[in-house]
Amino acid sequence: MDPITTLMDEHVAILSMCDAAAREAARLRAGGAFDAARIDGMLDFIRSFADRFHHLKEEDLLFARMAERGFPVDSGPIGVMRHEHEVGRGHVRAIAEAAPRAAAGQASGVKTVADNLVGWADLLRAHIYKEDNVLYPMARRALTAADLDDLESGFARVEGEAIGEGVAERYRAFVRDLLRQLG
Ligand SMILES: [Fe+2]
Ligand SMILES: [Fe+2]
Repeated sequence: MDPITTLMDEHVAILSMCDAAAREAARLRAGGAFDAARIDGMLDFIRSFADRFHHLKEEDLLFARMAERGFPVDSGPIGVMRHEHEVGRGHVRAIAEAAPRAAAGQASGVKTVADNLVGWADLLRAHIYKEDNVLYPMARRALTAADLDDLESGFARVEGEAIGEGVAERYRAFVRDLLRQLG
């Protein structure tokens, strides 16, 4: 598959997790029981599929190749995208830190988890919109056919290195099931 299309296809799964995170936060804010296993599963998806798998492809391969074609990496659109990946990691850390307190019944822990689920979902929705509509079209214009071929073969290696061969499909199934559970 064309590498930019591959990234956009991964966005669809990440956007499903944004929907799940927003619904889980609304359920918690309405007084629903804290489900530690569900939050653990969501954190695992975000860390593994969204960050180690998808963001690694962007940062180590796509952005790196765009840099070779003259795009700055510390400023401009790539700088903003890299910064937003870091902000997302901050939300994940906050959720992980608050989850044990939430599981122990502390309202402040539940509130921190819900606030950061919403913060992560809002951030990623806007981030993905910018990538799909601004950054990726820029990449398509600037990269050569050979660049795209290199990215495609690089992407094929990343799944095994980042999360394990065939593991991405398990994460896609996880988020589909989660959305069904959350109605
Ligand atoms: Fe990104
Ligand atoms: Fe992305």
